[in-house]
Amino acid sequence: MRTQVGIVGAGPAGLLLAHLLHREGIESVVLENQTRRRVEERVRAGLLEQNTTDVLERSGVGERMRREGLTHHGIVLRFDGESHRIAITDLTGRSITIYGQQEVVKDLIAARLAYGGRILFEAADVALEGFDGRSPAISATHAGERIRIDCDYIAGCDGSHGVSRGFIPEGALTHFERQYPFAWLGILARAPPISPELIYARHDRGFALFTMRSASLTRAYLQCAPDEDLSAWSDRRIWDELQARLGTGDALRLTEGEIVLRGVTPMRSYVCEPMQYGRLFLAGDVAHIVPPTGAKGLNLAVHDICMLAEGIAAAYRGDASLLERYSARCLKRVWRAEHFSWWMTSMLHPVHGDSFNDRLQVAQLDYVTRSPAAAKSLAENYAGLPYAADDR
Ligand code: FAD
Ligand code: PHB
Repeated sequence: MRTQVGIVGAGPAGLLLAHLLHREGIESVVLENQTRRRVEERVRAGLLEQNTTDVLERSGVGERMRREGLTHHGIVLRFDGESHRIAITDLTGRSITIYGQQEVVKDLIAARLAYGGRILFEAADVALEGFDGRSPAISATHAGERIRIDCDYIAGCDGSHGVSRGFIPEGALTHFERQYPFAWLGILARAPPISPELIYARHDRGFALFTMRSASLTRAYLQCAPDEDLSAWSDRRIWDELQARLGTGDALRLTEGEIVLRGVTPMRSYVCEPMQYGRLFLAGDVAHIVPPTGAKGLNLAVHDICMLAEGIAAAYRGDASLLERYSARCLKRVWRAEHFSWWMTSMLHPVHGDSFNDRLQVAQLDYVTRSPAAAKSLAENYAGLPYAADDR
């Protein structure tokens, strides 16, 4: 098989790349090791920056998102038993949208299949070669056969457990990493949201986040241990703990409903530099991870892909300079988001026994909710800094 760009991974990064390249008249093949159903049902991110919704709308895959997405203009920070609203739109002129990542993935798969684009699901044992020279190739086992795809460029978009980064020679990449002594227990429940906006709550019992997917679906997260045993969490315990951390009394009484999904998400910060080696380009979670407190992971993946699609399209027109600068163009935004996500995480998650840290967290929350300058700084990072700022 031969194509122009071989893409590993049918998450938001890989699918959006295939879509943007198609719009530039560039052919690609996407290889994904899971089934289509699994990819479409995986519940993860929910909060999209305006940059992200703009990209999806401009590229013609925003129609359902416009109809079904929930536009938000603020978030609530809760600490010491009180709520404080950060008026994101008033402070930045930008809004945010709640629309599940799996819905974005469904829209991108539908768009790709509609124009006859190729996605090879259940492709096992992906291996990459030749990307240090001019003849990159991807091989994989698909439908019981070993296949080989020759291409001009390879995009590694295979997420945090992906394999593409591992094909780059040892020593060519520098890895930066931070671990956190906690994780998130996430649930999805058939229950109407209690608040029209997201609530980020710092409580001495631990952090809690209240979010949603629709008028009848609540999503919520609780700070827990990295090795938390899910079987110790009955529905009753989850609702009681959410109630304790999110509110006091009836003012914020959660509407309970059937918990249809639960899982533990580890917290990690990670960046590899550079995000390219020869003709292999890394994009999204395979190149960088942020803890989810800042809601930046998917949004960063979309920015990487815009830079990569633009660079590849320019290279086919005879100008390789943008592609050569791909990693540098991405990393500026990546490190800004790494800092913001680390900062939000550090401000909101108490660490057991560290009372000095407790006081610092409350002092910082007090500052960002009182000072218009500090609130604006939080708001512009949360809503997403405009893309144009990156190339300066
Ligand atoms: P992925 O979505 O992981 O996609 C990678 C794809 O590659 C997958 O389909 C995988 O099956 C496939 N793959 C893996 N290995 C191979 C292989 N060997 N061969 C072939 N295919 C392979 N981000 C936000 O912006 N906003 C949020 O609100 C937000 N909330 C989050 C909440 C939670 C609980 C979690 C866990 C994450 C959250 N994120 C959020 C982060 C966001 O989900 C990720 O950053 C995003 O999924 C990255 O997209 P990706 O395409 O790079 O990787
Ligand atoms: C979500 O809706 O799943 C979500 C929202 C904001 C975050 C993380 C997750 O910071």
